[in-house]
Amino acid sequence: MNGDVELTESAGAQTDGDSPFGRSGTRMKTLGIDFPFMIAPMVGLTNVAFRELIRSYTPAGIKILTFTEMLSTRRLPDEKLSTTNELKTADGEDFFIPQLLGNEEEYIAPSVRKLLTVNPWGFDINMGCPVSHTLRHNWGVRLMGDKSYAARVVEWTKKHSARPVSVKLRGGQGDSESLEYLLEFTEALENAGADWLTIHPRPRAQQHKGTANWQLVREVARARKIPVVGNGDIQTAADAVSLLRDFESDGAMIARAATARPWIVWQIAQKLGYSTPPAGRSSAECPSTPQEEGREYIRACLTLLGFMKIYFPQEDYCLEKFRFFAATGARWYQFGHAFWKMTTKAKTITELHDSIEDFGNKFEHPSFERVKFL
Ligand SMILES: Cc1cc2nc3c(=O)[nH]c(=O)nc-3n(C[C@H](O)[C@H](O)[C@H](O)COP(=O)(O)O)c2cc1C
Repeated sequence: MNGDVELTESAGAQTDGDSPFGRSGTRMKTLGIDFPFMIAPMVGLTNVAFRELIRSYTPAGIKILTFTEMLSTRRLPDEKLSTTNELKTADGEDFFIPQLLGNEEEYIAPSVRKLLTVNPWGFDINMGCPVSHTLRHNWGVRLMGDKSYAARVVEWTKKHSARPVSVKLRGGQGDSESLEYLLEFTEALENAGADWLTIHPRPRAQQHKGTANWQLVREVARARKIPVVGNGDIQTAADAVSLLRDFESDGAMIARAATARPWIVWQIAQKLGYSTPPAGRSSAECPSTPQEEGREYIRACLTLLGFMKIYFPQEDYCLEKFRFFAATGARWYQFGHAFWKMTTKAKTITELHDSIEDFGNKFEHPSFERVKFL
């Protein structure tokens, strides 16, 4: 296991075969990843402040992969890493993955070279984004339409860095899933040298709505030699563990639920029997009841705001990003709509901070275990 984290005896009782992660263990270990739970790339959300928030809730000794939002390789070569908000990293941050959006070697090469200066763990290529601007340029999920070209994008990324290269893709490039095509497509990526893959098993037309078909993750994981991580509709720690144990996934990538439960990795760790809490906390503090989650959400919002103030000098930017964070995650809480509305009214960070505190003092704000993705 990572660092000095140990699996307790009680966890041993929960394990399945040799590994706490399922009968066959996880092949992410071959890449040096001992704890195969990670936080997904999300535009407007997974900035350095959010990644710091996630780390503040991660048990000491566990390292989890986090991602930047998708970064345009057309823009990156001209951007400054230290001043472009989306590109900022924390001091000593080394377990993060920049996600690249693009399809031309002439832009991928300088983007990779530039990002290597901030020591990312690896690189990810976006082959899942369904937004029309991305499709127009044949980026994102459009790359799933041409397996040979997609394979070349992997080769170009590999050529310019020795670090692991992954691809995040969907269950299908169009209106529906096709396992047959997915197997062919992922084989091409594997042959091109991809080190691992993430499947978001919703087809393009489904965008982020409805349930994700985790059976597809199982089928692809069985067929591929490289690790295959599942994503989509992971809302609780139990979901994340189930994806590995019941669907043979090599890892679980959590997206929207991490904006509601930034402590979800801590919950997963406890479920798996890790006894070490995050630095400065006690194990008993891991939120588990709806009321505990509600109280912790308020604290997490204040912590996030604190990190935003450190990294983003522009007050409007902080307010905008915070509101988006609340719009995404507050729906897991009983007064989520009122909470989000309150964030839209605050005109300054100080006002927002005070309103959040006030909200926490006035309301019990219990969580829902799951929400419907419409
Ligand atoms: C606001 C938002 C922004 C997203 N941005 C990205 C992105 O930059 N790159 C990417 O690969 N996926 C992106 N996604 C997709 C997520 O990474 C994830 O695949 C999707 O939300 C499904 O997981 P979930 O059901 O657990 O939320 C985004 C999703 C949301 C909701």
